[in-house]
Amino acid sequence: MRHIMVMNAKGGCGKSTLATNIASYYAVAGQRVALADFDPQRSSLDWVEGRPSERPEVIGLAAFDEGLKHLPRTTEYLIIDAPARSHGPELTALVKRAETIIVPIMPSRIDMRASRRFIRELRGVGKVERKQARIAVVANRFRDNTLIFDELDSELRKIGVPYVATLREAQNYIRAYSRGLGVFELPEYLAWPDWEQWGPLTDWLSSRASRP
Ligand SMILES: Nc1ncnc2c1ncn2[C@@H]1O[C@H](COP(=O)(O)OP(=O)(O)O)[C@@H](O)[C@H]1O
Ligand SMILES: [Mg+2]
Repeated sequence: MRHIMVMNAKGGCGKSTLATNIASYYAVAGQRVALADFDPQRSSLDWVEGRPSERPEVIGLAAFDEGLKHLPRTTEYLIIDAPARSHGPELTALVKRAETIIVPIMPSRIDMRASRRFIRELRGVGKVERKQARIAVVANRFRDNTLIFDELDSELRKIGVPYVATLREAQNYIRAYSRGLGVFELPEYLAWPDWEQWGPLTDWLSSRASRP
């Protein structure tokens, strides 16, 4: 079973948006997918509950309450939506659950500063230090702003974490979320720019570089 976790101590950076879209991506690709929501705000679980029954199934787990008790053994992809404010022992415990960690960052100065601190802490977790878990950053809610873009890029180089994709700010994410879908399930004429932006992320996820 593949375990992909989306995490950042910062709220509102797009953890649930990425987690639900990754779940939708693998479900549409014909994989057996479960989405574990460790955040009591339950955004991912709400998304699963709103998912139309004719769409490829994603099994939702109220992990904030019950852990992975109801995880079907046949699951091929477990996508984990981590809570905000994960630090210290809680962070270490969460990291134990995944071998691939995606950190969404909003390209604003405040978010970048908070995220840098978070990535520093994450890199200090034993499992990550031993390279038993791989981290990548995704810039999310990007608007045309090259200055911030350059800053984020050099920031990430400094901390030595790969920066694998940039996702734009788009109504499609809000539209898809409210219908229990991913952007991959929206019509091509609307969502093709987002499909293109997801390419580098899904390529990284299927590459050896994203696994220990
Ligand atoms: N790329 C995007 N474009 C537009 N809106 C976005 C995008 N990513 C996230 N959002 C919106 O931003 C808000 C916070 O995103 P969310 O995924 O819930 O963050 P988190 O789970 O990290 O708290 C939500 O309203 C979501 O719809
Ligand atoms: Mg969330």
